[in-house]
Amino acid sequence: MYKIAVIEKIHEDGLKIFSQNPNYEYELIEDTSKENLIKELPKFDGCTLRVSELNSEVLSHCKKLKVISRHGVGYDNVDLDYIKKNKISLLITATANAVSVAEHVFYMMLYISKGFNKFDSEVRLGNFKKNSQKIKTFELNNKEILIAGFGRIGRALSKRCSSFQMKMNIYDPYVDEKTINNCGGRKVSDFNLALKTADYVSIHMPLTDKTNNIINYDNLKKMKKNSIIINTSRGSIINELDLDKALNENLIFGAGLDVFEKEPVDNNNPLLKNEKVFLSPHSATFTEECKSKMSIETTKNIIDFFEKKIDKSMIVKL
Ligand SMILES: NC(=O)c1ccc[n+]([C@@H]2O[C@H](COP(=O)([O-])OP(=O)(O)OC[C@H]3O[C@@H](n4cnc5c(N)ncnc54)[C@H](O)[C@@H]3O)[C@@H](O)[C@H]2O)c1
Repeated sequence: MYKIAVIEKIHEDGLKIFSQNPNYEYELIEDTSKENLIKELPKFDGCTLRVSELNSEVLSHCKKLKVISRHGVGYDNVDLDYIKKNKISLLITATANAVSVAEHVFYMMLYISKGFNKFDSEVRLGNFKKNSQKIKTFELNNKEILIAGFGRIGRALSKRCSSFQMKMNIYDPYVDEKTINNCGGRKVSDFNLALKTADYVSIHMPLTDKTNNIINYDNLKKMKKNSIIINTSRGSIINELDLDKALNENLIFGAGLDVFEKEPVDNNNPLLKNEKVFLSPHSATFTEECKSKMSIETTKNIIDFFEKKIDKSMIVKL
């Protein structure tokens, strides 16, 4: 019998898989404080993980732990050096969330391009005609989008952009030109140059030393005045203070953010008061379909791991 810690609740559909399998017993851990994780985790063979931090201090108490199954695809909350040294495997839900995130990007692009909720409030205020002509809106048709990072989500987004007849520039040094061309995109190798001509920018690369603050005041000020940036990847890829400044100085038109340098966002983050930015609380995967798929994949991955039939695409290469 394998004992599995479910760190933070996940959708019932995945938990049912554990309940129906006599070889697995799970326990839900809702208090994710470091002290509680250190106290509770040592008895488990595997765990599922949402956003809580598993640092080396916590992990050093988990002598039985063989596998961490992330409910998602990012893993910046896990100490990779520690798990590599201690032969703990890390799994991700590689097929579950790309569609929901790509749809979220599209929702943000359309919402900002079509006038936020401004038209709606004008109608409700009785200003059916008065201010409506002053609200600036855009078509997506024929516009240039820079997709930065062309993995699962970037590719799912490209399909949606194609159907809106957008021109796609793709920045991903690790994906070859043929793959990009086959998806209808054009490979670009100079990120800053591609930013200058983009009408839309959508961020889908991971947060690394190379991508940290890759969008900052220096390149924001060279962008088109009507450009729109969407970030559903990781907050620190964009320098938030620089973004706020660029929006206030009308250097770009708008931004949509699902992710932040610090989550939950601090009350004094200036972007909370900036009307040119559209915000969501790291919720791109919160559709009913995605929650169910992610939970099923998270638990199935643990079982497949212990039964030695785990799909390679679910394993993070350390
Ligand atoms: N908002 C959310 O709820 C949410 C949900 C899922 C994923 N994410 C985040 O979205 C990001 C992308 O997820 P994915 O599933 O598409 O990942 P992925 O691993 O499939 O794709 C990432 C791509 O980025 C490329 N890349 C790596 N370094 C790069 C660099 N320096 N410059 C340009 N490209 C680079 C890789 O070659 C890869 O093709 C991840 O950071 C993930 O954490 C957020």
